[in-house]
Amino acid sequence: EKEGYDHFMLKEIHEQPKGLYETLNRRIEEDGSIKLDGINMTKEDIENFNKVFIVACGTAYHAGLVGKFAIESLAKIPVEIDVASEFRYRDPFVDDKTLFIAISQSGETLDTLAALREAKRKGARILSVVNVVGSSVARESDDVFYTWAGPEIAVASTKAYTTQLMCMYLIGLYMGRKKEVISDEKYNQYMSELQDIPDKLTELLKSESSIHDLAKELYKKEQVFFIGRGADAGVSYEGSLKLKEISYINSFAIAAGELKHGTIALIEKDTLVIALATQDKLYEKMLSNIQEVKARGAYVIGIAKEGNKEIEKQADRVIYIPDCMDEVSPLLSVVPLQILAYYIAKERGCDIDKPKNLAKSVTVE
Ligand code: F6R
Repeated sequence: EKEGYDHFMLKEIHEQPKGLYETLNRRIEEDGSIKLDGINMTKEDIENFNKVFIVACGTAYHAGLVGKFAIESLAKIPVEIDVASEFRYRDPFVDDKTLFIAISQSGETLDTLAALREAKRKGARILSVVNVVGSSVARESDDVFYTWAGPEIAVASTKAYTTQLMCMYLIGLYMGRKKEVISDEKYNQYMSELQDIPDKLTELLKSESSIHDLAKELYKKEQVFFIGRGADAGVSYEGSLKLKEISYINSFAIAAGELKHGTIALIEKDTLVIALATQDKLYEKMLSNIQEVKARGAYVIGIAKEGNKEIEKQADRVIYIPDCMDEVSPLLSVVPLQILAYYIAKERGCDIDKPKNLAKSVTVE
């Protein structure tokens, strides 16, 4: 069932163009409008919300970090985000004007389910973004929006994450459209960027063997830092989690601008830093963050959009992703990080599909 791949994780990485295509195209009508099957919110319902609260765990939480950007900018509504295990014990401000969004691949994560029940008790409308059809989270939600990733077997989540991101963009666009706060021009630009993603991802997957070569150089590192700004910061957290959970390397992610407030103390000669620099409007800022760590001797792998070559002057190595609008780059930029994590773990001889201490769905507190 691994269809020739050595591990489910690698197979699932390669299934991402298809998962994204399905998640998007099943929701587009012939006239180009978005139809969110499973979501029964009226214009009035949407206008009634004064806040969105996204709650999830682990990788799904990281999808929520990008979702916050997307929904705030598209639907013009404040978005709070929390990990489920914190949300449920802290008496958050949630009421009948809150749209609560739970994100969960399995739909069985206990903390997420408990947070959902707490939000429901307080009167929030519950929308879930779930992969497993008919799971507990799906059953207990008012509206369910499925990711069309297909079954995810590997413990390390890959295609669930990217399809969750796609859902977040679609929810933002849908709400923005209903509220009439998004121009036709912006809507059409987003839709065409999203529709190009599956092909761009197929293109990007061709860099697998060069990323494998890079992994052979790097796999003995015992410490890695991931840095980024804006949407790239969210992707840094996900890249770092992916690497640590399957390779057992101590990895840490931080918003690049925060480095100098303490963490830079840990950067020394040959420290590996993976720097995401895919945001055009933050590119120069990232280049100066790269300079800061280079000045302390770091070995830097940059992730940038094709064409943005200035980074080559500072980073030791650069992995390019296809050019795209800043807002949707997480759909692409996470993929080299998934592949790098996979091959580093493989070079280290780790049991990739079943990392130690981890279970596919966490149904205990
Ligand atoms: C990491 C990973 C976990 C899950 C988390 C939530 O690769 O898979 O961090 O994302 O346990 O699981 P779900 O999405 O099933 O609620």
